Amino acid sequence: MYNTDINSELLSWYGKNKRNLPWRDIDDPYKTWLSEVMLQQTQVNTVIPYYNKWIAKYPTLSSVAESQIDDLLKLWEGLGYYSRCRNFFKACQIIMNEYEGNIPSNIIEFKSLPGVGPYIAGAVMSIAFNNPQPAIDGNINRIMFRYLGLKNQTKYNKIRVYSKLSTFIFLNPGDIIQALMDIGSSICKPNSASCDQCPLSISCKGFLNGSPLLYPINKNKKSLPVKNIIAGLVQHNDKIFITKRKDDGALGGLWELPMILVKDCNDHSLFKTFLKDKYNLNLKINNKIGKIIHSFSHYKMNIQIFNCEIINTKIKKSSNNNSKWISRKEIVNYAFHKANHKLFDLLEKNNV
Ligand code: ADE
Repeated sequence: MYNTDINSELLSWYGKNKRNLPWRDIDDPYKTWLSEVMLQQTQVNTVIPYYNKWIAKYPTLSSVAESQIDDLLKLWEGLGYYSRCRNFFKACQIIMNEYEGNIPSNIIEFKSLPGVGPYIAGAVMSIAFNNPQPAIDGNINRIMFRYLGLKNQTKYNKIRVYSKLSTFIFLNPGDIIQALMDIGSSICKPNSASCDQCPLSISCKGFLNGSPLLYPINKNKKSLPVKNIIAGLVQHNDKIFITKRKDDGALGGLWELPMILVKDCNDHSLFKTFLKDKYNLNLKINNKIGKIIHSFSHYKMNIQIFNCEIINTKIKKSSNNNSKWISRKEIVNYAFHKANHKLFDLLEKNNV
Protein backbone atom coordinates (compact mmCIF):
# COMPACT_ATOMS: atom_id res chain seq x y z
CA MET A 1 0.00 0.00 0.00
CA TYR A 2 2.18 2.83 -1.30
CA ASN A 3 1.17 6.41 -1.84
CA THR A 4 3.16 7.01 -5.01
CA ASP A 5 1.61 10.44 -5.66
CA ILE A 6 2.61 11.87 -2.32
CA ASN A 7 6.00 10.19 -2.46
CA SER A 8 6.85 11.82 -5.76
CA GLU A 9 5.34 15.21 -4.78
CA LEU A 10 7.49 15.25 -1.66
CA LEU A 11 10.66 14.16 -3.45
CA SER A 12 10.22 16.74 -6.14
CA TRP A 13 9.50 19.47 -3.56
CA TYR A 14 12.57 18.43 -1.55
CA GLY A 15 14.79 18.48 -4.63
CA LYS A 16 13.90 22.14 -5.16
CA ASN A 17 13.53 23.40 -1.60
CA LYS A 18 15.66 21.41 0.78
CA ARG A 19 17.63 23.32 3.36
CA ASN A 20 21.38 23.15 3.08
CA LEU A 21 22.37 21.72 6.46
CA PRO A 22 25.77 20.35 7.50
CA TRP A 23 24.46 16.83 8.23
CA ARG A 24 22.81 16.44 4.85
CA ASP A 25 24.28 14.77 1.78
CA ILE A 26 26.84 12.89 3.79
CA ASP A 27 27.23 9.17 3.73
CA ASP A 28 28.11 8.52 7.35
CA PRO A 29 25.57 6.98 9.74
CA TYR A 30 27.56 8.27 12.73
CA LYS A 31 27.05 11.88 11.62
CA THR A 32 23.39 11.33 10.82
CA TRP A 33 22.85 9.76 14.21
CA LEU A 34 24.70 12.51 16.06
CA SER A 35 22.69 15.19 14.24
CA GLU A 36 19.39 13.51 15.08
CA VAL A 37 20.36 13.18 18.73
CA MET A 38 21.20 16.88 18.86
CA LEU A 39 18.08 17.84 16.91
CA GLN A 40 15.74 15.94 19.18
CA GLN A 41 14.27 18.69 21.42
CA THR A 42 16.49 21.41 19.94
CA GLN A 43 16.06 23.78 17.02
CA VAL A 44 18.11 23.50 13.85
CA ASN A 45 19.80 26.91 14.18
CA THR A 46 20.91 26.15 17.71
CA VAL A 47 22.28 22.75 16.71
CA ILE A 48 24.40 23.81 13.70
CA PRO A 49 27.38 25.28 15.61
CA TYR A 50 27.32 22.46 18.18
CA TYR A 51 27.27 19.83 15.44
CA ASN A 52 30.13 21.48 13.52
CA LYS A 53 32.30 21.81 16.60
CA TRP A 54 31.63 18.23 17.65
CA ILE A 55 32.47 16.79 14.23
CA ALA A 56 35.67 18.85 14.05
CA LYS A 57 36.78 17.35 17.36
CA TYR A 58 35.27 13.86 17.02
CA PRO A 59 35.15 12.99 13.33
CA THR A 60 34.42 9.29 13.93
CA LEU A 61 32.39 7.11 16.22
CA SER A 62 35.55 5.52 17.59
CA SER A 63 36.91 8.94 18.56
CA VAL A 64 33.77 9.46 20.67
CA ALA A 65 34.06 6.02 22.26
CA GLU A 66 37.67 6.75 23.24
CA SER A 67 36.94 10.20 24.66
CA GLN A 68 36.08 11.28 28.21
CA ILE A 69 32.50 12.07 29.15
CA ASP A 70 33.59 15.36 30.78
CA ASP A 71 35.04 16.54 27.46
CA LEU A 72 31.87 15.56 25.62
CA LEU A 73 29.67 17.33 28.15
CA LYS A 74 31.80 20.45 27.74
CA LEU A 75 31.05 20.40 24.00
CA TRP A 76 27.36 19.82 24.76
CA GLU A 77 27.26 22.63 27.34
CA GLY A 78 24.23 24.84 26.70
CA LEU A 79 22.45 22.38 24.40
CA GLY A 80 20.44 20.95 27.30
CA TYR A 81 19.00 17.46 27.87
CA TYR A 82 22.43 16.19 28.80
CA SER A 83 21.33 12.57 29.09
CA ARG A 84 21.36 12.62 25.26
CA CYS A 85 25.12 13.16 25.38
CA ARG A 86 25.76 10.58 28.07
CA ASN A 87 23.67 7.97 26.26
CA PHE A 88 25.33 8.70 22.92
CA PHE A 89 28.74 8.19 24.53
CA LYS A 90 27.65 4.87 26.08
CA ALA A 91 26.08 3.73 22.81
CA CYS A 92 29.28 4.52 20.86
CA GLN A 93 31.26 2.43 23.33
CA ILE A 94 28.83 -0.47 22.94
CA ILE A 95 29.13 -0.24 19.16
CA MET A 96 32.92 -0.39 19.37
CA ASN A 97 32.84 -3.30 21.82
CA GLU A 98 29.97 -5.37 20.51
CA TYR A 99 29.43 -4.40 16.86
CA GLU A 100 33.02 -4.00 15.65
CA GLY A 101 32.43 -0.28 15.26
CA ASN A 102 29.52 -0.66 12.83
CA ILE A 103 26.22 1.03 13.66
CA PRO A 104 23.54 -1.65 13.28
CA SER A 105 21.25 -1.14 10.32
CA ASN A 106 18.72 -3.44 11.91
CA ILE A 107 16.18 -1.36 13.81
CA ILE A 108 15.72 -3.85 16.64
CA GLU A 109 19.45 -3.93 17.38
CA PHE A 110 19.78 -0.18 16.97
CA LYS A 111 16.87 0.46 19.32
CA SER A 112 18.51 -1.63 22.03
CA LEU A 113 21.23 1.04 22.41
CA PRO A 114 21.02 3.63 25.18
CA GLY A 115 19.04 6.73 24.22
CA VAL A 116 17.67 5.28 20.99
CA GLY A 117 13.89 5.64 21.05
CA PRO A 118 11.39 5.32 18.20
CA TYR A 119 12.12 8.77 16.74
CA ILE A 120 15.91 8.44 16.59
CA ALA A 121 15.63 4.87 15.37
CA GLY A 122 13.24 5.81 12.58
CA ALA A 123 15.24 8.85 11.50
CA VAL A 124 18.61 7.09 11.44
CA MET A 125 17.27 3.98 9.70
CA SER A 126 15.55 6.06 7.03
CA ILE A 127 18.22 8.71 6.47
CA ALA A 128 21.43 6.72 6.95
CA PHE A 129 20.42 3.24 5.79
CA ASN A 130 17.60 3.86 3.35
CA ASN A 131 15.56 1.54 5.57
CA PRO A 132 11.99 2.94 5.52
CA GLN A 133 10.99 3.38 9.15
CA PRO A 134 8.61 6.17 10.22
CA ALA A 135 10.15 8.93 12.34
CA ILE A 136 7.67 11.26 13.97
CA ASP A 137 8.92 14.43 15.61
CA GLY A 138 6.75 17.38 16.62
CA ASN A 139 6.71 18.87 13.10
CA ILE A 140 5.85 15.63 11.33
CA ASN A 141 3.20 14.84 13.91
CA ARG A 142 1.49 18.19 13.26
CA ILE A 143 1.69 17.80 9.47
CA MET A 144 0.24 14.30 9.57
CA PHE A 145 -2.61 15.21 11.92
CA ARG A 146 -3.53 18.04 9.55
CA TYR A 147 -3.12 15.82 6.52
CA LEU A 148 -5.49 13.26 7.97
CA GLY A 149 -7.83 15.86 9.50
CA LEU A 150 -7.44 14.40 12.98
CA LYS A 151 -8.06 16.45 16.06
CA ASN A 152 -7.43 14.37 19.13
CA GLN A 153 -4.00 13.04 19.87
CA THR A 154 -5.24 9.67 21.03
CA LYS A 155 -3.27 6.46 20.85
CA TYR A 156 -5.50 5.28 18.03
CA ASN A 157 -4.97 8.45 15.99
CA LYS A 158 -1.24 8.21 16.55
CA ILE A 159 -1.32 4.73 15.06
CA ARG A 160 -3.21 6.09 12.05
CA VAL A 161 -0.55 8.76 11.63
CA TYR A 162 2.21 6.16 11.85
CA SER A 163 0.51 3.93 9.29
CA LYS A 164 -0.14 6.77 6.87
CA LEU A 165 3.44 7.99 7.12
CA SER A 166 4.60 4.44 6.35
CA THR A 167 2.82 4.66 3.01
CA PHE A 168 4.80 7.81 2.05
CA ILE A 169 8.30 6.56 2.70
CA PHE A 170 8.73 3.40 0.62
CA LEU A 171 11.09 5.17 -1.77
CA ASN A 172 13.95 7.41 -0.52
CA PRO A 173 12.67 7.44 3.06
CA GLY A 174 15.42 9.75 4.31
CA ASP A 175 14.50 12.44 1.79
CA ILE A 176 10.79 12.07 2.49
CA ILE A 177 11.27 12.43 6.22
CA GLN A 178 13.56 15.42 5.84
CA ALA A 179 11.17 16.98 3.32
CA LEU A 180 8.45 16.77 5.96
CA MET A 181 10.75 18.31 8.53
CA ASP A 182 11.44 21.22 6.20
CA ILE A 183 7.74 21.63 5.39
CA GLY A 184 7.03 21.69 9.14
CA SER A 185 9.57 24.44 9.70
CA SER A 186 8.65 26.69 6.78
CA ILE A 187 5.12 25.92 5.52
CA CYS A 188 2.97 23.93 7.92
CA LYS A 189 3.87 25.81 11.10
CA PRO A 190 2.09 25.64 14.45
CA ASN A 191 0.26 28.95 14.02
CA SER A 192 0.22 29.38 10.25
CA ALA A 193 -0.02 27.23 7.16
CA SER A 194 0.98 28.35 3.66
CA CYS A 195 -0.98 25.60 1.92
CA ASP A 196 -0.53 27.15 -1.51
CA GLN A 197 3.17 26.18 -1.27
CA CYS A 198 2.64 22.73 0.18
CA PRO A 199 3.16 19.56 -1.88
CA LEU A 200 0.72 17.70 0.39
CA SER A 201 -2.22 20.01 -0.20
CA ILE A 202 -3.54 17.88 -3.09
CA SER A 203 -4.88 15.40 -0.57
CA CYS A 204 -4.58 17.12 2.81
CA LYS A 205 -7.87 16.96 4.71
CA GLY A 206 -6.97 20.01 6.80
CA PHE A 207 -6.45 22.06 3.66
CA LEU A 208 -9.47 20.62 1.87
CA ASN A 209 -11.64 21.39 4.92
CA GLY A 210 -10.40 24.96 4.75
CA SER A 211 -9.06 25.04 8.30
CA PRO A 212 -5.74 23.22 8.72
CA LEU A 213 -4.94 25.07 11.94
CA LEU A 214 -7.76 23.27 13.73
CA TYR A 215 -5.68 20.08 13.72
CA PRO A 216 -4.47 18.66 15.99
CA ILE A 217 -5.91 19.96 19.25
CA ASN A 218 -3.08 20.78 21.60
CA LYS A 219 -3.68 20.10 25.23
CA ASN A 220 -3.39 23.20 27.37
CA LYS A 221 0.07 23.40 28.71
CA LYS A 222 0.05 23.05 32.47
CA SER A 223 2.07 25.63 34.33
CA LEU A 224 5.39 24.22 35.42
CA PRO A 225 6.01 23.33 39.07
CA VAL A 226 8.64 25.46 40.78
CA LYS A 227 11.60 24.01 42.65
CA ASN A 228 13.15 26.29 45.27
CA ILE A 229 16.89 26.03 45.46
CA ILE A 230 19.53 27.65 47.64
CA ALA A 231 22.96 28.15 46.10
CA GLY A 232 26.09 29.47 47.72
CA LEU A 233 29.00 31.53 46.55
CA VAL A 234 31.81 30.09 48.64
CA GLN A 235 35.11 31.89 48.09
CA HIS A 236 38.58 31.43 49.46
CA ASN A 237 41.82 33.03 48.27
CA ASP A 238 40.30 34.16 44.96
CA LYS A 239 38.91 30.72 44.27
CA ILE A 240 35.32 29.60 44.17
CA PHE A 241 33.97 26.26 45.27
CA ILE A 242 32.16 24.18 42.66
CA THR A 243 30.57 20.76 42.82
CA LYS A 244 29.75 18.09 40.30
CA ARG A 245 26.30 16.52 39.97
CA LYS A 246 25.94 12.77 40.19
CA ASP A 247 26.37 11.08 36.81
CA ASP A 248 22.87 9.69 36.73
CA GLY A 249 19.80 11.87 36.99
CA ALA A 250 18.97 15.37 35.80
CA LEU A 251 21.93 17.39 34.53
CA GLY A 252 24.14 14.45 35.52
CA GLY A 253 27.88 15.00 35.32
CA LEU A 254 27.60 18.78 35.05
CA TRP A 255 29.21 21.28 37.39
CA GLU A 256 27.51 23.96 39.48
CA LEU A 257 27.92 26.18 42.50
CA PRO A 258 26.90 24.16 45.55
CA MET A 259 23.11 24.12 45.70
CA ILE A 260 20.28 22.11 47.20
CA LEU A 261 16.56 21.80 46.88
CA VAL A 262 14.64 23.32 49.82
CA LYS A 263 11.05 24.05 50.75
CA ASP A 264 11.81 27.58 51.79
CA CYS A 265 14.79 29.60 50.56
CA ASN A 266 14.82 31.59 53.82
CA ASP A 267 15.63 28.52 55.84
CA HIS A 268 19.39 28.03 55.47
CA SER A 269 19.86 25.27 57.99
CA LEU A 270 19.70 22.38 55.51
CA PHE A 271 22.15 24.08 53.19
CA LYS A 272 24.63 24.58 56.01
CA THR A 273 24.33 20.95 57.08
CA PHE A 274 24.72 19.78 53.48
CA LEU A 275 27.98 21.67 53.01
CA LYS A 276 29.29 20.57 56.36
CA ASP A 277 28.43 16.89 55.94
CA LYS A 278 29.31 16.50 52.31
CA TYR A 279 32.28 18.85 51.90
CA ASN A 280 33.41 19.56 55.46
CA LEU A 281 32.80 23.29 55.03
CA ASN A 282 31.60 25.26 58.03
CA LEU A 283 29.75 28.22 56.67
CA LYS A 284 27.93 31.30 57.78
CA ILE A 285 25.31 32.28 55.24
CA ASN A 286 25.45 36.02 54.70
CA ASN A 287 23.58 38.34 52.35
CA LYS A 288 21.45 37.22 49.46
CA ILE A 289 23.13 38.19 46.18
CA GLY A 290 20.03 37.71 44.05
CA LYS A 291 17.92 35.13 42.33
CA ILE A 292 17.41 33.62 38.92
CA ILE A 293 14.58 31.62 37.41
CA HIS A 294 15.33 28.96 34.85
CA SER A 295 12.77 26.79 33.08
CA PHE A 296 13.43 23.20 32.09
CA SER A 297 10.92 21.07 30.22
CA HIS A 298 9.13 19.82 33.32
CA TYR A 299 9.86 22.34 36.05
CA LYS A 300 11.23 25.75 36.86
CA MET A 301 14.17 26.39 39.11
CA ASN A 302 13.97 29.36 41.45
CA ILE A 303 17.55 29.69 42.65
CA GLN A 304 18.47 32.15 45.34
CA ILE A 305 22.17 32.65 45.78
CA PHE A 306 23.85 33.72 49.00
CA ASN A 307 27.29 34.90 49.92
CA CYS A 308 28.82 32.34 52.24
CA GLU A 309 31.58 32.98 54.72
CA ILE A 310 33.88 30.15 55.68
CA ILE A 311 34.41 29.72 59.38
CA ASN A 312 36.46 26.53 59.31
CA THR A 313 39.79 26.91 60.95
CA LYS A 314 41.29 24.67 58.28
CA ILE A 315 40.10 24.25 54.75
CA LYS A 316 40.71 21.07 52.90
CA LYS A 317 42.50 22.38 49.83
CA SER A 318 42.55 19.08 48.06
CA SER A 319 39.88 18.80 45.46
CA ASN A 320 38.33 15.50 44.58
CA ASN A 321 36.45 14.41 41.50
CA ASN A 322 33.19 15.84 42.70
CA SER A 323 34.23 19.19 44.06
CA LYS A 324 36.90 21.72 43.20
CA TRP A 325 38.27 25.11 44.10
CA ILE A 326 38.79 26.99 40.87
CA SER A 327 39.66 30.50 39.82
CA ARG A 328 37.07 32.35 37.79
CA LYS A 329 39.29 32.08 34.74
CA GLU A 330 38.99 28.32 34.96
CA ILE A 331 35.20 28.34 34.66
CA VAL A 332 35.54 27.83 30.91
CA ASN A 333 37.22 24.47 31.49
CA TYR A 334 34.16 22.86 33.06
CA ALA A 335 30.68 22.10 31.75
CA PHE A 336 28.08 24.02 33.77
CA HIS A 337 24.34 23.87 33.15
CA LYS A 338 22.48 26.91 31.88
CA ALA A 339 20.86 27.82 35.20
CA ASN A 340 24.33 27.97 36.69
CA HIS A 341 25.59 30.20 33.88
CA LYS A 342 22.74 32.54 34.76
CA LEU A 343 24.13 32.63 38.30
CA PHE A 344 27.59 33.48 36.95
CA ASP A 345 26.02 36.28 34.88
CA LEU A 346 24.25 37.57 37.98
CA LEU A 347 27.52 37.60 39.95
CA GLU A 348 29.21 39.51 37.15
CA LYS A 349 26.35 42.00 36.91
CA ASN A 350 26.51 42.62 40.64
CA ASN A 351 30.32 42.79 40.65
CA VAL A 352 30.51 40.01 43.21
N1 ADE B 1 14.95 17.99 12.81
C1 ADE B 1 15.24 16.74 13.19
N2 ADE B 1 15.97 16.12 12.25
C2 ADE B 1 16.16 17.00 11.26
C3 ADE B 1 16.83 16.95 10.01
N3 ADE B 1 17.47 15.85 9.63
N4 ADE B 1 16.79 18.05 9.23
C4 ADE B 1 16.14 19.13 9.65
N5 ADE B 1 15.48 19.25 10.80
C5 ADE B 1 15.50 18.19 11.61
